[in-house]
Amino acid sequence: MKDAAVLCVGKRIVSTCQTKDALRDSWIRKHRKKIVEIDCARRVVLPGFVDSHTHPVFIAPRLVDFEKRITGATYEEIADAGGGIRSSLDGVRKASMKQLAEQVLAALQEMAGQGTTTVEAKSGYGLTLDAEIKSLRAIQKASAQWPGTVISTLLGAHVVPREFQGRQQEYVDLVCRQMIPRAARGRLAQFVDVFVDRGAFTNEDAKKIFEAAENHGLGVRAHVCQLTERALQPLLHFAVASLDHLDHVSDADINRLARLETVATLVPGANYFLGLENFPPARKLIDAGVSVALATDYNPGSSPTASMPFVLSLACTHLKMSPAEAISAATINGAWSLRLQARKGSIEPGKDADLAVFDVADYRETAYWVASNRCAFSVLNGRVATLRAD
Ligand code: NIG
Ligand code: FE
Repeated sequence: MKDAAVLCVGKRIVSTCQTKDALRDSWIRKHRKKIVEIDCARRVVLPGFVDSHTHPVFIAPRLVDFEKRITGATYEEIADAGGGIRSSLDGVRKASMKQLAEQVLAALQEMAGQGTTTVEAKSGYGLTLDAEIKSLRAIQKASAQWPGTVISTLLGAHVVPREFQGRQQEYVDLVCRQMIPRAARGRLAQFVDVFVDRGAFTNEDAKKIFEAAENHGLGVRAHVCQLTERALQPLLHFAVASLDHLDHVSDADINRLARLETVATLVPGANYFLGLENFPPARKLIDAGVSVALATDYNPGSSPTASMPFVLSLACTHLKMSPAEAISAATINGAWSLRLQARKGSIEPGKDADLAVFDVADYRETAYWVASNRCAFSVLNGRVATLRAD
């Protein structure tokens, strides 16, 4: 809409209309003095971004892996040599919950500074019962200090930690019998995630984990087909909210996904940062009728970016999505993948007052400027947050 106005009361959007109609409205005229007016002239207002896939509970960047990759090592070679996910475990296991919460809060604030108002945050760098619960509590503590909305996900099945090497089934049992029940009982997670791939977990493991999650009333999502092709069918018997990465998804599975409500969440920041030539098949997925979401995958190993505008840029330049498709994927489709579509992801009366305001003249510019933060401020559940001085 051009010359639009959004009226929010408290945490909710109550109406959207043309500015001239808002100014004529008798209720608005009567309450004009009490209304806070934010002039967005010559700016673009989008629904706040829904970053539906992030791993913010970690202590340190992985600089050794970064340098090894520059000299030619792959993600899997680095993991096999003791780097990768397992090398982030020590830091998280030794850290206090408060320290981890500070890390998470800093990430959430950085995200809000680039227009993100809802974040899905995963545990997954503790991989002991205590360290995973501590990670989820850190997410809970940080989200209480942040005005936006956070959905937490238990990713106890990220990889098999070293102490369980050769005993993968025992580790899967620990996830199913201890981590999931504790997370559910403590209301610490809404979803359970599992990394299904070479070097991580199998479809059989994922089925056990999904069963345990659903038995405890938790939703399910998975990292799949990031490194290798894998049949999705065994997982689709469950009500999977989202399947993420999907670089190597087969055509047959794309057609299966098109018939389901499962969202395909693409995270091209990982392809970019790992220096890969290929990117996930967004065009094929969209053209087949699959709902595609975009997310940062913010994490220290494969995608250290908190920027949804950067992901929009990658979506347009490398996934061949149009700016409009990319924005839908980064807002309403992300909301669907978190089962928040009734509250989040669009600027509509009755939805939460989550807005991202950009210093640009045309909405397409939000995906156009590269590595340049044009977000002037965001509104998170009715609260204005700004990082940049005007
Ligand atoms: O989404 N694939 C698994 N998990 C993360 C990477 C985690 C890491 O390398 O620390 C991902 O890319
Ligand atoms: Fe991930």
